[in-house]
Amino acid sequence: MRTWTLRGTTTSYVVGVPEHGQWAQLVAWGPQDGGAPVTVVGTEHFVPRADVEPLEYAVRGVRYTSPVELVVSGPDGSDELRPVFVEAREGDGLELEFADVVRVVLHYRMVGDVVERWVSVRNDGPDELVLHRHDSAAFVVPVGNIVKYLWGEWNSEFQQASVTLPRGRFTIGSAQGITGHSYSPFLATDGDVAYGVQLAWSGSWELSAEVDTIGLLRIQAGRSASNLGLRLAPGETWVSPKAVGACSAEGADGLARVFHEYQRRGSRKRVPKTLYNSWFATEFGIRAEHQLELARRAASIGVETFVVDDGWFVGRSDDTGGLGDWEVDPAKFPDGLDGFIARLKDLGLDFGLWVEPESVSPKSRLAADHPEWILRTAGREPVLIRNQLLLDLSREDVAEFVWNTLDRLLSSYNISYLKWDANRPRLDAGDGRRDVDGLAVSHLYDILDRLRDQHPQVVVEGCAGGGARVDLGMAARVDTLWPSDNTAPLDRLRIQEGFRTGFAPHLMSSWVTDAEGTHDGRRRSLDFRFHVAMAGVLGIGADLSRWTDDQLKTAARHIEQYKGFRELIADSKVYGLTAGVQYVGVRRSVVFQWETGDGNVRGTLPTRPRRVPLAGLDPAKNYRVGTETYPGSYLLQAGVVVDDSADSHCLVVDLVD
Ligand code: DGJ
Repeated sequence: MRTWTLRGTTTSYVVGVPEHGQWAQLVAWGPQDGGAPVTVVGTEHFVPRADVEPLEYAVRGVRYTSPVELVVSGPDGSDELRPVFVEAREGDGLELEFADVVRVVLHYRMVGDVVERWVSVRNDGPDELVLHRHDSAAFVVPVGNIVKYLWGEWNSEFQQASVTLPRGRFTIGSAQGITGHSYSPFLATDGDVAYGVQLAWSGSWELSAEVDTIGLLRIQAGRSASNLGLRLAPGETWVSPKAVGACSAEGADGLARVFHEYQRRGSRKRVPKTLYNSWFATEFGIRAEHQLELARRAASIGVETFVVDDGWFVGRSDDTGGLGDWEVDPAKFPDGLDGFIARLKDLGLDFGLWVEPESVSPKSRLAADHPEWILRTAGREPVLIRNQLLLDLSREDVAEFVWNTLDRLLSSYNISYLKWDANRPRLDAGDGRRDVDGLAVSHLYDILDRLRDQHPQVVVEGCAGGGARVDLGMAARVDTLWPSDNTAPLDRLRIQEGFRTGFAPHLMSSWVTDAEGTHDGRRRSLDFRFHVAMAGVLGIGADLSRWTDDQLKTAARHIEQYKGFRELIADSKVYGLTAGVQYVGVRRSVVFQWETGDGNVRGTLPTRPRRVPLAGLDPAKNYRVGTETYPGSYLLQAGVVVDDSADSHCLVVDLVD
């Protein structure tokens, strides 16, 4: 067997093609000093050999009874292919090429400890072909059968769960044309060496984990197959989105760090400015004077960017109108948006704007002018959700309209921040002879890329009715993501813990609001609420006009502290602690501790103080915590004392030379 080794920072991924050249298979994947080999021994019975080997990418016609990633049919009524190995190309990564009537190339690239994988499929025959299944990759996971996933719904995204698979199959996905609230495109294993898979796609998708009868776990990741399949004309090439596999010898927490590092490499480096967003304070009831009143208070506590959310444009007094007609409402902004922005600037604030460019309200002017732009299935009424319809972003003219709308707004006004929302799933199939999901998502990505290119000064926040569009595709194109509309302290903490297992803190937009809790209504202090939001990209979403002077002072103190370490939060290794989290940079570390009440066993008798062992420090060096200096070894083992009289803590730990 010919083999190739992709070497990461601490792990390696070894892939091979046997002499017969009928497939590629995983040879080993894991830590470099002991990458778990995957070898199947013994004789197969009643099935072809391909059905038991750890195939990297299985094609129907090579493999029959075990799961396959590619199914292609042609006009002859067959859906079987037998591609044969042509060549390997090494360079930036690895390409393994196989040929039949289609030319299938398996692409690999190692980034940190993440293996990026995708396929391209070219139709080399004279006839149109149809792809019925078209995954990006399958990852054979050498050890483990406990599969962890993230599930949720609106207001409770990123809930952590796991399933043990002695044998059998577990599938999650989205049929919503958007990543979805229900599941994240993320599966991981638990164990000392942890493995994880994510898919970089913001449309419909599917991830499956299957433990075969041999006992080997294999995870497939790809775009959902549509009932009508993807058509591939002669000479045409289809390229899948990227799926990535990651491995860490530091368990699930280490796996999260590998994903974080990968996402940081794909992000722009920036100082996360503290913003104020008016949504929870005013909803659609926007009036410039009132917004300015909020802005004055926001500026006085140290906020740097003021974002006007939904409701600023004509026809938008509730969620039934306005979408598509992106003109500033003169009744809400009597001095125009320019006048409003000028007054924000006088307060020292940058300006941010909310948009939802993919949607259209049925009673908007846009819907009347361009009924052909509305996504619908021929002969059917389009599906109305949250009183809105979708534009058919798979169309070039619609993509151009969306780009022009954003470009015009960003070129006409002094906008530093854009919150891109998407408040409904894409359910109407549209013209199923076209790849609507593929084209719509590609256009979305093109527009985001173009924004970055042509308006580089604008920070973009991705949002989708809370956290329905959080995935690697978005993570590579926006500066930050909104995980959930649930900002109640204890609910939010749980959501953020789930988010952190797959997504980095610089992507985690988090606001302090007045929300009391949808699922857990226990009240928490303002300090607690700040510490939760300071663990990501801090924002304020409360009605500041109701805050007392004391509350404003507390807020100012936290914002000032946050500014002292926000770049560290955005750019450091994160370790989960008992009831908290620790961000470890080169010279400084920030520790958050939250009293959730879940493990509260304090009685009335004298007790020992609670200690929290820290992580990620150098045992041979000294660190200052408050006024005391401790050896790293002590902090790692004995930890810091947490005073239980407060419900949260933020400690700064500094390296002492
Ligand atoms: C859903 C978002 O998650 C909210 O923050 C807010 O922007 C609303 N949409 C506005 O309609």
